[in-house]
Order: sequence, then C-alpha cells, then structure tokens
Amino acid sequence: MLSILKQSHSSSSSSVAMPQGLDFSQALSEIEGMGGRGGSLQETRVRPLAKRRIDMHSFCSPSGFQRSPYLSARGNFAIIFQGSTEDGYRAYHADKYDEDKNPNVSKNFKVFFQLTQADMNLMDPPLLQYPDWKGHLFLREEVARFLTYYCKAPAPLKAENVIVLNGCGSLFSALATVLCDPGEAVLIATPFYGGITQSIFLYGNVKLVYVYLDSKITGKSTRPFQLTVEKLEKALQDARAEGVTVRALILLNPQNPLGDIYSLSELQDYLEFAKRHELHVIVDEIYMLSVFDESQLPTPWPSSSDFAVSGIRFGTLYTQNQDVINAVASLCYFHGVCGPVQHKVAQLLRDREWINQVYLRANHARLKAAHTYVTDELKTLGVPFLNRNAGFFVWIDFRKYLKTSTFEEELLLWKRFLDNKVLLSCGKAFECSEPGWFRIIFADKTHRLQLGK
Ligand SMILES: Cc1ncc(COP(=O)(O)O)c(C=O)c1O
Repeated sequence: MLSILKQSHSSSSSSVAMPQGLDFSQALSEIEGMGGRGGSLQETRVRPLAKRRIDMHSFCSPSGFQRSPYLSARGNFAIIFQGSTEDGYRAYHADKYDEDKNPNVSKNFKVFFQLTQADMNLMDPPLLQYPDWKGHLFLREEVARFLTYYCKAPAPLKAENVIVLNGCGSLFSALATVLCDPGEAVLIATPFYGGITQSIFLYGNVKLVYVYLDSKITGKSTRPFQLTVEKLEKALQDARAEGVTVRALILLNPQNPLGDIYSLSELQDYLEFAKRHELHVIVDEIYMLSVFDESQLPTPWPSSSDFAVSGIRFGTLYTQNQDVINAVASLCYFHGVCGPVQHKVAQLLRDREWINQVYLRANHARLKAAHTYVTDELKTLGVPFLNRNAGFFVWIDFRKYLKTSTFEEELLLWKRFLDNKVLLSCGKAFECSEPGWFRIIFADKTHRLQLGK
C-alpha cells in the first residue's frame, strides 16, 4: 500500500479522465437538448434546485454519454448513474482474486451453510402464490420478535408495523416516493453511503440536501465528522432559503463510511430537531448486528448485509405510521421478496441460538481481528484513520499523499490503487467535503487482506 501511495505522490496527474460532477437540471437539460422524448421529467420537477447543495452524486459520469433514442429522459438519466464506483466493482468482478480455484467459499460461508439446511428449503404451494405485499405474516411476526429481542424493546413490537422488501435500497426508493413529492428533498450528513442518492432519485425524483461534515473538531463537536444539531439547522435553513422543501432526515447508524455509532443523547437531539421542523426521520440501521465492540450494541434492523448475504435482497421497515405502511405496501408490488426466500429468512431469524452462539460470536470475533489487523498496519504506515468498532470499513486519511488537495488528485490515487488491484472507495463517492479520504473494507480473511499490503 505504501508503495502505491508513494507512486501517487510523485506521478503526474494527467492520465485519468475525470468523471464530471453532475447537476440535475444541467444533466436533464443536456439530455433534453439532444432532442426526442424527455420533457416529462423536467416538467414534474417542482422548482430548480440550487447547484451547490443539490449537485448530483459526483460519480455520475456524463462524459462520453450517448443519449438513447429508445429511452425517456428518466431512462437516460438512469444510464448516467453508472459511474466510477461501478467501474471499480466491474474491475473487481472481471478479475477476482481466486484462492485455490475456489471462489465460492467466502466470508459469508457460515450463513451459506445455514441457509442450505433441510428446513430452509421449503416449496409449499402458499409460498408460490402472490403474497401479502407487505410480506408473509409468518415473516413479519418473526421480524417483530427479532427486533423486540435485539432492540431490547420495552414492549413487544408488532407485525402490523413491519414491511419486508427486497433490500434497503428499495426501501429508500419507496420511502422517498411516498414521503416526498418530485423535486423535494431529504437531509443527510456527508460523507454517506452514496447508493442512497440513486435510490431516492431514480423513481421518486427526490434529492438530497447535504449536511457537510469535516475532519476539523470545532464548536461543540468532540470528534472528526461529528453531526451536530447546529450543522443540521444550518443546512436546513440554507436549503429553505434556496426554496427547497425538505421532508425528512436520513440517519445512518452505525454510519457508513465513518463507522460512528450515535450516542443516545445525540440521537435524542437529532430527533428533537426533526420534530421541531416536522421532518420524518429514516434511520438506516443496516449494520446493527455488525458492532464488534459489544458495549456499544445499539438496536438492530435485520438486513442481508448484517448476515453477509447481500445477494438475498432482504430488508425491513418498522414504523408505527400506518399511512406510511400502506403507501409503501403499494410499492412492494415492485419490491417484494419471493415466498421461498421469505421462508428461509424467517427460519434464519427464528434460530436465535444459532445467531447468538454461532453466527454473531464468530462474526464479531472475525470482524474484530480483521479490523485490528488493518488498523495496526495503518499505524505502522503512519496513516491516520478513524478508529471505530462497527460496520465493515475504516475511514482513512490519505490527504498527505495528494499532490494538491483536489478531488482530481483523489481520483488519481483511487485509480492507482485499482491498477494495482486494491479496490478502495474514495471520499467523493460518499460526497465527502475534503479530498483525500478513502474507505477500506476490512471484512475479509487476514491472508487475503495481506495481499493488499
Ligand atoms: C448504509 C447502507 N444503507 C443501505 C445499503 C443498501 O442495502 P441493500 O443491499 O439492502 O439494498 C447499504 C449497502 O451497502 C448501506 O451500506
């Protein structure tokens, strides 16, 4: 890793084509200016949004983009959403590390074996019929019990408040669509998991208003990238001054990419802020069971990521607002989980003893070991990072390795890692406001992590 960083410091910056940042209105008018279909999306926008705050995910890459005459403006926009993060993912899959010609045994093998047990493989006729779009009752009851237990809820949670659908990305799409009108916006602190931009925009045409956090510890903050109510207030007021209607606040807890877990008092402050301004709060707790320092365990949201089976496509919403439940349920027609998979997930969640005694123990011990390995290496290299105990990632400060403090230089460094077969995510993919921050995923076996050294 150090050799790649050193190369970066001494090399020229002219060799990489930068993906351009993309403003919604600009991109849409570019597409529409090319003729053909496409006026409708533009018309549905309530009002133009200010460029600085509502810039589209900067990894959207319209450079070299060819408008398709077969698609609407929305369809063309969906294509533009393919960016450099996709490039990294594609490069990884095209040339995946193959350990003894055995690519199928990966970090999720424990759950894989559990999911193939005889009692998991049911093909009962009712499972093959149209389900209740909210999810089969047996699964929603299981999710409610699961949440009651792991959230340490003071009273049993109810199946009627649970919706099951195919992943948290779909959930963001559905929630954005039912809580906001086209052109309205949702508050989120940066850096954040960039997929959310796509999820809330592609169907709902809903935008994000950024609450920019940075590494400086100022004012009332006590740690880098700390979210405070002052910062929330400022972002909200600025957006309103620009004529943007903000309907909700998204909180990621544990945070991706920072790994932060909010304290109870922080959460209370954020919720009071939201209540004061009549905002919905969407709390994404996809890594709840991936807190490997037990003293910090908050409340879980069962998700496929926590069980390292993202391909299963499973996520749940818990809300006491029946209007939201009913509206999201209508969209679940597009986002349902098929019956046999619902059965598998229910069996998995039901097996409390296996989750506690086998899965979580092994998972937390491995996450902790891998985290320790990566952070020890970073200490040896003299690279600063945020030392947290949740999620699968470490937020690393490579700023000193950029020749100039720009996102172009950051992208060059990212590309250099990729050329050397080390796939990291650079800060721009999370809308980080400071160039030079990178996210490394450490959730892998030590000998595989050593390859990236
Ligand atoms: C914070 C966060 N939210 C949502 C998602 C998307 O989850 P899903 O794969 O269930 O759509 C991810 C995926 O990495 C994530 O990190």
